Amino acid sequence: MGNLSRLLKESWTLVEEQQDKVAGYFYARMFLSNPELRNLFPVTMDVQRARLLGALVTSMQLVDDPDRSDEYLHALGRDHRKFHVEPEHYEIVGSALLEALRAVAGERWAIEYDQAWRDAYQVISARMIAGAATDTNPPYWNAEVLTHERRGPDVAVLTCRPLQYPLSYRAGQYVSVETPRHRPRLWRTYSIANAPDADNTLEFHVQAVGAGWVSSALVRKVRPGELLRVAAPMGSMTLDASSTRDIVCVAGGTGLAPIKALVQELTRYNRTRWVHVFFGARDRDGLYDLAELNQLAARYPWLSVVPACSDDDGFTGEQGNISDVVARYGPWAEHDFFVSGSAPMVRATLRTLAELQVPSIRIRYDSFSDG
Ligand SMILES: Cc1cc2nc3c(=O)[nH]c(=O)nc-3n(C[C@H](O)[C@H](O)[C@H](O)COP(=O)(O)OP(=O)(O)OC[C@H]3O[C@@H](n4cnc5c(N)ncnc54)[C@H](O)[C@@H]3O)c2cc1C
Ligand code: HEM
Repeated sequence: MGNLSRLLKESWTLVEEQQDKVAGYFYARMFLSNPELRNLFPVTMDVQRARLLGALVTSMQLVDDPDRSDEYLHALGRDHRKFHVEPEHYEIVGSALLEALRAVAGERWAIEYDQAWRDAYQVISARMIAGAATDTNPPYWNAEVLTHERRGPDVAVLTCRPLQYPLSYRAGQYVSVETPRHRPRLWRTYSIANAPDADNTLEFHVQAVGAGWVSSALVRKVRPGELLRVAAPMGSMTLDASSTRDIVCVAGGTGLAPIKALVQELTRYNRTRWVHVFFGARDRDGLYDLAELNQLAARYPWLSVVPACSDDDGFTGEQGNISDVVARYGPWAEHDFFVSGSAPMVRATLRTLAELQVPSIRIRYDSFSDG
């Protein structure tokens, strides 16, 4: 570990137990000295939502690892344009961070800690600012909702179209979305559920989760005609056109979204690769897009679809967790894999694939939650 990292870690241990206090001080300091910055943040800022401070502290550890962090920090800087962050804001945030750390650590704070945080922040923020400066995309696209279809109590399929410029992306990527009318300044990530098409439409499959803010608004409040904001695409769960291997897709719930985009892309050129889609949910309602998948399978001989329910005795198809169902088929050691869904579902599937000796290099996945 470099000297800078050591000083950052050592000084953070002085305040780690009092993170709430650091966060409180940090935001108060920032908003008192620059009240206009308050408008960049969500209306309700409970501790869980106070993402910036936690993110700042984590990112500082990247300072000793330029190879790994450069691309990430450039992308983070580009992405911050959607929050309306301008280069001059970085210094304000840096000072507020330092003052918060100093105030909470009290007498134990040493002068070399001050310099370490200053240096690290300078390096990290310079990379973010450079990333933002070279971005040729708009900070976000305004996109008009075209259709909104409920597929059960918690799921909706919606389409929208960016108004100003086309948004280029690859099948399998995701974007962050804001619903300005309902949840201003809260951005959440959603996979685009269709392959890029000529009329520039984006489809999303959204499942409202627990006490969540944005997904529930997208499912229950958003209506055709209103505007969403959509930021630049990210993610690498995309097709490798040079691979000739057959493909297995494993989707849990709305984890189907990026898989559907990949399948749609394959319908445009694939003739030679077998594609198996495993689609799991707790019950039949959760298989919200099975009818469309079955239509695709009827049309394209290379596509097969296996639906499964983990908690629905009346379902006549496969029973059990989708990871176990995948293991019943196979062998899979020569296939490319795409896995998408909740964190427990993705974890279970990766475990199964490891047991089945599938090399990890052939697996691409997106995990929808941290848990
Ligand atoms: C790369 C990526 C792609 C995604 N694509 C999609 C998609 O296509 N469709 C889709 O419906 N979702 C997708 N998600 C998940 C989506 O971003 C989250 O469900 C969303 O952040 C929830 O936002 P919220 O404001 O509704 O909930 P929040 O207000 O952020 O969370 C409220 C509470 O719910 C918990 N929670 C959050 N997400 C989940 C979850 N997924 N499962 C269980 N508990 C959760 C949180 O821990 C918190 O306690 C994707 C996530 C990632 C990382
Ligand atoms: C070194 C500098 C910075 C780093 C490493 C950093 C990092 C991050 C990260 C990782 C996130 C979480 C992103 C997400 O959840 O999608 C975030 C959120 C955010 N950042 Fe930054 N950031 C920095 C500087 C700034 C500055 C200067 C501002 C301007 C005020 C800013 C404003 C925000 C806002 C508004 C959010 C969303 C907060 C929320 O949803 O609660 N950041 N930051």
